[in-house]
Amino acid sequence: MPRGELAVITDGAVIIEDDRLRWVGPAGRAPEADQAVDVGGRCVLPGFVDSHTHLVFAGDRANEFAARMAGQPYDGGGIAATVAATRAASDDELRVRVRARLAEARRQGTTTVEIKSGYGLTVADEERILRIAAESTDEVTFLGAHVVPPHTDRADYLELITGEMLEACRPYARWIDVFCEPHSPHAFTEDEGRRILQAGIKAGLTPRVHGNQLGPGPGVRLAVESGAASVDHCTWLTEDDVAALADSETVATLLPGVEFSTRSPYPDVRRLIDAGVCVALATDCNPGTCYSTSMPFVVALAVRELRMTVEEAIRAATLGSARSLRRNDIGRIAIGCRSDLAVLDAPDYRHLAYRAGVPIAATLTY
Ligand code: NIG
Ligand code: FE
Repeated sequence: MPRGELAVITDGAVIIEDDRLRWVGPAGRAPEADQAVDVGGRCVLPGFVDSHTHLVFAGDRANEFAARMAGQPYDGGGIAATVAATRAASDDELRVRVRARLAEARRQGTTTVEIKSGYGLTVADEERILRIAAESTDEVTFLGAHVVPPHTDRADYLELITGEMLEACRPYARWIDVFCEPHSPHAFTEDEGRRILQAGIKAGLTPRVHGNQLGPGPGVRLAVESGAASVDHCTWLTEDDVAALADSETVATLLPGVEFSTRSPYPDVRRLIDAGVCVALATDCNPGTCYSTSMPFVVALAVRELRMTVEEAIRAATLGSARSLRRNDIGRIAIGCRSDLAVLDAPDYRHLAYRAGVPIAATLTY
């Protein structure tokens, strides 16, 4: 099937057994099943894959959001406020918040969520954040390299991340991420990012990168060179960045909720699609740059603001995001895949963007 298209089955059916799809096709040809669920002509999609979130945090930054809407730029400085609130919260408080955010995501059709650390930034706090994340998902990312914590020597913190902190965190994580951003004084340089990702690879983790968010920079280059599964944000890309991505297995994950919530220019997705780059969409749910768990919101933004077709946006929010997590058992409705399905209270998938803001998407329960 050409990129950007969806395979649509009208009057379709699936057979589910043990959380797996065993058969997919027109309802008229479906084999017998023990139990039947009729969704009444509603549209069924693969459950959304939210491949980029920071769900384990306490506090909020509504004041910072309001200041941005009044013209203040974002530079990552507010992360320190969330770090302080998160460190002060008990494990149980964090757990309750994560579960509430996950339930909110599920109510909107999301069936897989990646969760990063990054609001602890001490060995003990990063470890407990990842432990709590791992209670809810297999897609756990160590982001000790979110920012250099306030009042901390850079060189000492790099030693810690690549040593004791990595050692404590690796049992819970599959991925390692770094916020590589020359336009933020709090984030990490290309050389620092390289050192952190290399240490992670040695510890058995696979890289992902926060890159090219606030301006052009080395994030994409670092991600491709490190064999990262994904480089996320990709708001400011050069021709060389696009070419490097096209020539790699690294997925470009776009997070348009961030541009919405920071009042920033949206990325040029057409250049990526035209170059043959695999594009994913995710929420980036976090208290600073996008406090939304809603993949339907992200799809609607991608269609309206990035000018993706609805088909492209749905593929990016399902198949593309699954690929960014190197998973082929989610993000599509195919035999052998997990039975992770979303249902729209609508007859047509285009309603997802057409009826923006209306809660028509839900996880299909049966
Ligand atoms: O993905 N850019 C870095 N990290 C987050 C925001 C974190 C925050 O501001 O709390 C992001 O946008
Ligand atoms: Fe992020």
